[in-house]
Amino acid sequence: MDDKIVLTGIKPTGTPHMGNYIGALKPLIEMSQNHKTFMFIADLHALNSVHDAKEIKQHTYEIAALMIAMGLNLENTVLFRQSDIDEIYKLSNFLMNVTPKGLMNRAHSYKAYVEKNTEIGADVDAGVNMGLYTYPVLMAADILLYNSDIVPVGKDQKQHVEFARDIAGYFNNTYGETFKLPEPIIGSDAGLIPGLDGRKMSKSYDNTIPLFAPSGELKKKIMRIITDSKTPDEPKNPDESTIFQLYKFFADENEIAELREKFIAGGMGYGTAKTILFEKVDSVLATPRAEYERLMANPSEIDAILANGAERARAVASKTIAKVKKKMLG
Ligand code: ADP
Ligand code: TRP
Repeated sequence: MDDKIVLTGIKPTGTPHMGNYIGALKPLIEMSQNHKTFMFIADLHALNSVHDAKEIKQHTYEIAALMIAMGLNLENTVLFRQSDIDEIYKLSNFLMNVTPKGLMNRAHSYKAYVEKNTEIGADVDAGVNMGLYTYPVLMAADILLYNSDIVPVGKDQKQHVEFARDIAGYFNNTYGETFKLPEPIIGSDAGLIPGLDGRKMSKSYDNTIPLFAPSGELKKKIMRIITDSKTPDEPKNPDESTIFQLYKFFADENEIAELREKFIAGGMGYGTAKTILFEKVDSVLATPRAEYERLMANPSEIDAILANGAERARAVASKTIAKVKKKMLG
């Protein structure tokens, strides 16, 4: 274990699917085995797009339960809910005063709105609330509050981590050395998980398989995976098959090699391949799924874990706020 502080946030905007798990959550769970990690459910970041408290709460529990059921190391990891830490609102507000407005204008997510609005002839800021506009400041506060060294994120979040570095720099230049400059670690696109229709699995495409879908639903979803029209006899290309791509993440090396052979040799229909995939996923996930379902049925257990995390997070956050307040207000 090195002593670098790893931090990341996960936005509770959907039920976690296989793509989220394989691309983002699994690497975090692995990292938690030998790093001190701050990991939080970024419910405040969900607020600019989700205005339904029940939905945010439900997805918060789902993400926490999934991480716990999949073996997150809770000793090394401070797992908490972002909104439980009052210091985050304070730091975010303090940082507003050293953050140039122009930096926010350059944020990809905001610019996407401006471009879309311009295209359709609407007001440039139509549909943009201040939560969306100042999103990068809140994210910088998340990162800087806990003295983070390393921030693992998807490619779409890289700019936000760079902004956190910039904002830390503006603060340090104005008030003297205070914040460490965080480094992003970017997950590669190479491992993008395909969804039911072969495009990237994403809630925006409605092509997802929830990681912990009950057995019956899992089977239905897998049977709906779109394939080409090759007959059972024809040889098939495993590397172009969503079925095989998903299988690779759940099977061991020998099993993967065996299924690859069957694809190439011909004589196996896609229906059979789907059944093989379903049975593998269903059996690999059976034990953690039972634990996930148990936790979801006992949310007070999740609350207790998150409350413990919040307490540990607050111990660090309150020191940062005291330091910042002193520098800014004397
Ligand atoms: P969605 O595309 O369903 O809206 P998010 O954008 O909320 O998912 O994804 C959260 C994280 O999960 C992303 O930062 C990314 O790292 C990971 N992720 C999402 N979909 C995939 C996928 N199909 N393959 C690999 N990783 C993914
Ligand atoms: N913005 C991130 C996302 O949309 C989630 C997030 C919030 C985050 N705060 C963070 C990620 C701090 C890393 C560090 O996925």
